[in-house]
Amino acid sequence: MPKLTIYNPRGELEAEGEVESGTNLLQASVKLGAKHGSACGGVCSCSTCHCWVKKGFDSLSEQEDNEADILDRAFDVKPISRLGCQAEISNEDVVYQITEESERTWYDEHPKERHEAEAKGLWPPKK
Ligand code: FES
Repeated sequence: MPKLTIYNPRGELEAEGEVESGTNLLQASVKLGAKHGSACGGVCSCSTCHCWVKKGFDSLSEQEDNEADILDRAFDVKPISRLGCQAEISNEDVVYQITEESERTWYDEHPKERHEAEAKGLWPPKK
């Protein structure tokens, strides 16, 4: 099974582990416990699952036109950008970084965890 290494927006290790081939990056993040936002629930209509693929980019499923259209709405789009809900993993290991926009969305979707992180001084992150 491919191994995934996931970093948070500050470049710190967020999660790592193995997932089945055919899993998309967002599903992988959920399975491995990474804070990867998904405001539309993974149906390619929000751009909040935006991430940067640092290794294994070419091994992911092809980007379709609708993903490119939605990705245009995201912040800080780079040549290594993908929507996590649309990029399926093949057999190769993948390293990716969750964007600030996506992490913020995750905290918006998880108010209990956000309050706990705020109480510990972990959220919002220090610049
Ligand atoms: S979760 Fe909305 S576009 Fe991926």
